[in-house]
Amino acid sequence: MNSTFASSSPVTYSDYFNDISQYNVHLNVFERAWAAWYAYMQNDVLATGIMSFMMHEIVYFGRCLPFMIMDKIPYFRRYKIQGQKMPTLSEQWACAKLVLLSHFTVELPQIWLFHPMSQYFGLSSTVPFPHWTTMAWQIALFFVLEDAWHYWLHRALHTPRLYKMIHKLHHQYSAPFGLAAEYASPLETMILAFGSVGIPIVFCAFTKNLHIMTMYLWIIGRLFQAIDAHSGYEFPWSLHHFLPFWAGADHHDVHHEKFLGNYSSSFRWWDAVMGTEAGSASDKKLREKKVAVKEE
Ligand SMILES: *[C@@H]1O[C@H](CO)[C@@H](O)[C@H](O)[C@H]1NC(C)=O
Ligand SMILES: [Zn+2]
Ligand SMILES: [Zn+2]
Repeated sequence: MNSTFASSSPVTYSDYFNDISQYNVHLNVFERAWAAWYAYMQNDVLATGIMSFMMHEIVYFGRCLPFMIMDKIPYFRRYKIQGQKMPTLSEQWACAKLVLLSHFTVELPQIWLFHPMSQYFGLSSTVPFPHWTTMAWQIALFFVLEDAWHYWLHRALHTPRLYKMIHKLHHQYSAPFGLAAEYASPLETMILAFGSVGIPIVFCAFTKNLHIMTMYLWIIGRLFQAIDAHSGYEFPWSLHHFLPFWAGADHHDVHHEKFLGNYSSSFRWWDAVMGTEAGSASDKKLREKKVAVKEE
């Protein structure tokens, strides 16, 4: 391409960004970057696909990294819930390999369907973004709904047949670490991912009011939640100390250790109300026996 042409019509991403900035002074820098990306790609399916996949990889591995570094620093050992079981680097690498394999083989093709599907159900991908209050209440709603979905489906995955067929793989690590968050069979990924991706899409099908950006922020929040819950670290500054109903690693770590109880993802209320918070199968049998004795 010759330079006279390049100077008159946009070619590089920054050409598009500058052009859009010039004519859309009302947009903020993120909105300009977003619009420039779609204009530069000239193919919305590809633009959304690449952005979604990159976002997932960067957030997932980026969020795991600080925990992997902490594992190597003895000072942080005091915050480790199961301090006697430290994941080795080769264990973490084996885990990362399977996670990557499933990202490239199972998730990638589905991410490609995301744009057509979002068009069909009316998700918006235009600028400006929705007001932040709209994003905030929608994300809060998705957290609550996903948690309910996760509680019941995860609990179902712990019935003997489904456990052996599907969920056993996720429980390979009885002392979890961040990377183990998405270590699961493809079937489990699809069942549980419906809570994260399907619920917002169903919400949009009814309300016609959802932006892909809101969806991204929600997924990022959900990824942070899942990785923190598997990190194996409980800090004095962990979120549940400030939001008592937040689950966190304090809630999920024991689930991996004992294979029972604490089935929800983000919040504590489902396990509290359904009586699945307190521990082992023998506790449960004991409680049932007591109830049976009372009823006689
Ligand atoms: C469930 O989570 C609570 C904290 O919310 C924890 O005290 C308890 O040990 C956990 N029990 C199981 C079985 O995971
Ligand atoms: Zn489980
Ligand atoms: Zn888990």
